[in-house]
Amino acid sequence: MFESLRAVPADPILNLSVLYRQDTNPNKVDLGVGVYKDETGHTAIMAAVSRAQERLLVEEDTKTYVGMAGSKRFCDLLSQVTLGTDHQVLTDNRIALAQTPGGSGALRVLGEFINVAKPGATVWVGNPTWANHIPVMTSAGLTVKQYPYYDAKTRGVDFDAMMAALEADAQAGDVVLLHGCCHNPSGADLNLAQWQATADLIKAKGLLPYVDIAYQGLGEGMDEDAAGLRLMANTVPEMVIASSCSKNFGLYRERTGMAMVITATAEQASLAQSQMNSVIRSNYSMPPSHGAMVVETILADPKLKQMWRDELKTMRKRIKDLRSQLVDAIKAEGVEQDFSFIKRQNGMFSFLGVSAEQVDKLVNEHSVYLVGSSRINLAGLNQHNIAYVAKAIAAVL
Ligand code: LMR
Repeated sequence: MFESLRAVPADPILNLSVLYRQDTNPNKVDLGVGVYKDETGHTAIMAAVSRAQERLLVEEDTKTYVGMAGSKRFCDLLSQVTLGTDHQVLTDNRIALAQTPGGSGALRVLGEFINVAKPGATVWVGNPTWANHIPVMTSAGLTVKQYPYYDAKTRGVDFDAMMAALEADAQAGDVVLLHGCCHNPSGADLNLAQWQATADLIKAKGLLPYVDIAYQGLGEGMDEDAAGLRLMANTVPEMVIASSCSKNFGLYRERTGMAMVITATAEQASLAQSQMNSVIRSNYSMPPSHGAMVVETILADPKLKQMWRDELKTMRKRIKDLRSQLVDAIKAEGVEQDFSFIKRQNGMFSFLGVSAEQVDKLVNEHSVYLVGSSRINLAGLNQHNIAYVAKAIAAVL
């Protein structure tokens, strides 16, 4: 049976870590996978996470099954972080929640859930979007179409083209995938007026918004980064949200995330919960527990929560500073091309906007690792490598 198997091309993002590890150049720089690094290039465990883990080591007294939707307390606490403590959707109980294995797990569960509600439904994803969105959605049985999103000329969102495409081509019952904040890969986000216009269009056309929020807290702030999503939830009757604790709690390998389904009524929410649980049961039965227990411990304790928010603020500020410093460092190399757009964008990523050949040179001649689309992870820069990276960029331009 297996003689017919063909190798799948290496993952465009995750494979960069493999190549980086193999590279013996002492000056190598990893701007590939979306992982936060500190000034020393290390992805440290956040202090609040370490404290919570110490506490769990003493207090956790069972490893019995958690159930298909995971910990209810984790879900309740995290939904308040995402939607805000007293969002109407929460007070009305118009929501079904499930702890999932990371944000990818949430995306897949929600994709399959949508496929139960409307088999083969069309999901509109932005062009570009996170490289794994399309594989996850198609594996869930959905049909993927693209709407224009990033304008390489203005280095911003091509909002008119996005709205025109959705207005003209999206049909009632179609799904529209949006990035909650810190757009991956472009760093170009919708502003609040654009969120409202998108929400109005979605409502008028009977579309389902599907928000992926994987970087809350790494753009402008915890509440600021969720403002568009909250506004969407105020406007439309139904919505799904995939959230991740990989980046903002630094829990990458613990696979911690959550799927949320907002429904028009509380009765529909309990139906949605039963369907979501069934999707989970037939897939991985139930989520891993440790990361969610850590998050729950932090969010339930005001001191740990403050500690976590403060550290996240430091990370956010560092990324913003690195954005400015990179722009200045490129300029200092005598490059005339304007890179100031990097300062205006949000979160971990921006496109350098260089060609595939130039990306190849950065990787193969300078050991600066970035995604083929020219996406860089700003958090991979530090005071030791920033001048080197700027020189390398100047050399390939
Ligand atoms: C990224 O975009 O680099 C991260 O979300 C990691 C991943 O799984 O692709």
